[in-house]
Amino acid sequence: MRATVTAHKDYTISKIDDRVYGAFLEHLGRAIYTGIYEPGHATADKNGMRGDVAQLVRELKVPMVRYPGGNFVSAYNWEDGVGPREQRPTRLDLAWHTSDSNAVGVHEFADWCELVDTEMMLAINLGSRGLDDARNFLEYVNGPTGSYWGDLRKKNGRADPFNVKLWCLGNEMDGPWQVGHKTAHEYGRLANEVAKTMRAFDKKLELIVCGSSNADMPTYPDWEREVLEHTYDNVDHISLHMYFANRDNERALAEGGTPEVLAKNTANYLALNEKLDRYIATVASTINFVKSKKRSKHDVYISFDEWNVWYHSNKQDRKILDGNDGWPHAPRLLEDIYNFEDVLQVGLILNTFIRRSDVVKLACIAQLVNVIAPIMTDPKGQAWRQTIYYPYYFASVFGRGTALQLDVNSPGYDAVHGDNIGYVDVSGVHNEEDGTISFFAVNRHATEAIDVDLSLQGFGAATVIDHQVMTHANLRAVNTATEQTNVAPAKGTGAKVDGKTLSVKLAPYSYQMIRVK
Ligand code: AHR
Repeated sequence: MRATVTAHKDYTISKIDDRVYGAFLEHLGRAIYTGIYEPGHATADKNGMRGDVAQLVRELKVPMVRYPGGNFVSAYNWEDGVGPREQRPTRLDLAWHTSDSNAVGVHEFADWCELVDTEMMLAINLGSRGLDDARNFLEYVNGPTGSYWGDLRKKNGRADPFNVKLWCLGNEMDGPWQVGHKTAHEYGRLANEVAKTMRAFDKKLELIVCGSSNADMPTYPDWEREVLEHTYDNVDHISLHMYFANRDNERALAEGGTPEVLAKNTANYLALNEKLDRYIATVASTINFVKSKKRSKHDVYISFDEWNVWYHSNKQDRKILDGNDGWPHAPRLLEDIYNFEDVLQVGLILNTFIRRSDVVKLACIAQLVNVIAPIMTDPKGQAWRQTIYYPYYFASVFGRGTALQLDVNSPGYDAVHGDNIGYVDVSGVHNEEDGTISFFAVNRHATEAIDVDLSLQGFGAATVIDHQVMTHANLRAVNTATEQTNVAPAKGTGAKVDGKTLSVKLAPYSYQMIRVK
């Protein structure tokens, strides 16, 4: 099987905002407690932050981290997490039916962000709370000393403002599961007033208003239209969330499904980024619709601030979520163990963000540690890379620059979410600073290798400087504490540039990064 791709230096999509490789950390399960924070751990620093985890996060070059939720934020009182630790209250978290000691709050999170060299993105509670608390929180975090909240922050150990620029106005407010769920009208009105108030404090904040929780919500995409009609000129981004699942195969495996059925389900699973692409396109059109309706010059972009694969842990989580375990502190929740199939999925999602970098300016893999995460830890034990760590790593580290508008001709297949889905999915990034071009490719074909001829136009002479391949005989192979490198990248062979053509053979079911300079 063959595919052709053409890349031209001047045929570009957009400069990629580095923050599209952001991540998310919620007070949920073991993301914070025994995730990033574990006093007494062999690698913990004086603040109790795990050094092994910090090292893996730094390696990913995560540009920003969203905090503290998620569903958690909608009943969170930020004041519980500041001041002397011994005086902080333990609270019941209604979103995940757990309890939280509040040993970590905004100060500890800010210190951790400095440790791992990332920017903070804070979410405010617009579920159980409203405008006044949003204003107080903002003044506490960013206000000058000499004011009530600034002085309290100083008393709590930090004189200089944290200067947080990115603020999420609530979380998934369209979801009936959300504490303080609202209609689009109720939320749009509130979000606009909160945005105006926050802007009165600082015009330069970047504000993110809640879009739909997913593209299957009954209120989508009317929610986006109505919320933006209320808020358009006062916000900078609208949030989208999407989680990916291959539940058909989970069922088929339990019922002893045939290899043909499993392969078909995988083909549908790996076509889900078609749905992601349509979701982004629809919200981008809705943004344009409202912009035109308002005769506005202002631009609003997309913050895809929750995305990942999430389904492996659903069954085991039921007991805790149904309240049958009481109110445990930092239990094992949403601990998806990712397999090789998910490597392909995450590679495809990131390719979509690169191709839609004209409208998607912020994004967060959900989440970063232990909870549906690329990094796993054992309490008192090791930290290791899940399978999906790698495509995220390659895109985050090497996918910075300008997204190229590639012309791709690949044989394809029909799936539930779209027809003629190319077996080859590829994105290309030109880094003008170091002169490299990085291609991220997935071969969705189960059994056939695909020979790709990639024509490089307008770049000058080039050679292959790196080729990484992820493939595995077993789609369901995973990494564990004891087998940490079962699924890992290996150096590729055979990619070469001849004249202006880069040729590479993509093995069946493989993720690959090829870099030329
Ligand atoms: O990331 C897990 C949860 O998924 C978040 O708390 C919520 O926003 C979403 O539904």
